[in-house]
Amino acid sequence: MTASRAAGWGMGVLPRIVRGEGSYLYDADGRRYLDGSGGPAAFSIGHGNREVNAAIGAQLDQVACGYRYLFTSEPLEQLSRLLLARCGAEFKHIVYSGSGSEAVESALKVALQYWDARGLPAKKRFIARERSYHGNTLGALSVSGFLERRRPFEGSLLDVSFVSAANAYRPLCGLTGAELVAALAEELDARMRALGPETVAAFIFEPVVGAAGGAVPAPDGYARAIRAVCDRHQVLVIADEVMCGAGRCGTWRALEHDGVVPDIMAVGKGLAGGYIPLAATILRKEVGDTILSGQGAIMTGHTYSGHTAACAAGLAVQRIIERESLVDRVRSRGETLRRELGAALGRFDAVGDVRGRGYLIGIEFVRDRATREPFPAERALSQSIGRSAFEDGLIIYPCAGNVGGVSGDTVIVAPPFNASEGELSELLEKLAGAIGRTLAAG
Ligand SMILES: Cc1ncc(COP(=O)(O)O)c(C=O)c1O
Repeated sequence: MTASRAAGWGMGVLPRIVRGEGSYLYDADGRRYLDGSGGPAAFSIGHGNREVNAAIGAQLDQVACGYRYLFTSEPLEQLSRLLLARCGAEFKHIVYSGSGSEAVESALKVALQYWDARGLPAKKRFIARERSYHGNTLGALSVSGFLERRRPFEGSLLDVSFVSAANAYRPLCGLTGAELVAALAEELDARMRALGPETVAAFIFEPVVGAAGGAVPAPDGYARAIRAVCDRHQVLVIADEVMCGAGRCGTWRALEHDGVVPDIMAVGKGLAGGYIPLAATILRKEVGDTILSGQGAIMTGHTYSGHTAACAAGLAVQRIIERESLVDRVRSRGETLRRELGAALGRFDAVGDVRGRGYLIGIEFVRDRATREPFPAERALSQSIGRSAFEDGLIIYPCAGNVGGVSGDTVIVAPPFNASEGELSELLEKLAGAIGRTLAAG
């Protein structure tokens, strides 16, 4: 086997992973890495959990997978009951898949099928936001406002209309608070009127932006305001909670924080905590019921949708999260962690903003704190910080391009929900060390 390289992370030859235990990963040379971001915010309860592994093993001993059109299964039914209970009474239908991209892809297709079933087949367009990421398949990439990831595929992507990101640190027209929210809602409203609401199927957004922005929660009131705009124009709301959902932000649904219910929601990453790939598209009762009563079946999904062992993994992970009240811990400890990060990193002039929610925290680097001018893209600062942290045994998630799609440097911190106090202290210390070393190197 040849040594592999990770495109975009600038990591060079990658170490060979051999073991994971709790918040740590180990490579073949015996080096230990604290998982400070679960890679891209995926590993919600850490690694090597014996209870989850036993649940998967027990399922594999019985049967790995019953094909979804022929069988249901106990893990699938129990997981579905658990997820619907977490999401709230408004939700009723779930389409499982294997990745966040597939979950988003299904969300887009469900929106189109819903309007078709309602007798409004002209509602075909999507509105999305700049500085967003929704996945790597063509549909999910089409709704992603992420220049670097789209560039080679431009011309073959869907014609999606983009509105401004909702970012209080880099706000539209320098506005703040309620004025910013009102301006963003007005922009969305105007866009719908310009396109013709009769042509718009759905608006898709990340309640807390992940890689494309560096953990950016929308300003207070934003989600409610855009929900109202969408309702006014009969447009569905799709919440992409692939990174920010499943408890990562301190509520099981990220939008719970805002008191908003989307029509369709995509979750992935932390759902089965990385033990087996698992994602889900969760539909409001009326959306799924309308499709089923009009057309008989929700026309999306894949061979391994609802894979039995994957559902067993998701069920085991979610039961641990529930039993150990980990979402509550993320909510309360996350606020403290954000404050601690702010205090520990404030001494670096280049740290412009520390923001986020729960255990999805972004640190943004700027050349000038007053003007918020970013570092030049060529410096690849976030990658260098990520690499320096990795060399010191800490995994964080470097993200670039949050300013204008090209420059801008952030790193995301997203530890396992059950990381110990000692591990969180180690994270703070090693992150500060990596930032200090990288900035000093110039
Ligand atoms: C918000 C969001 N949506 C969708 C995706 C795509 O998920 P996946 O990489 O599992 O396909 C990602 C991945 O980072 C994401 O952050």
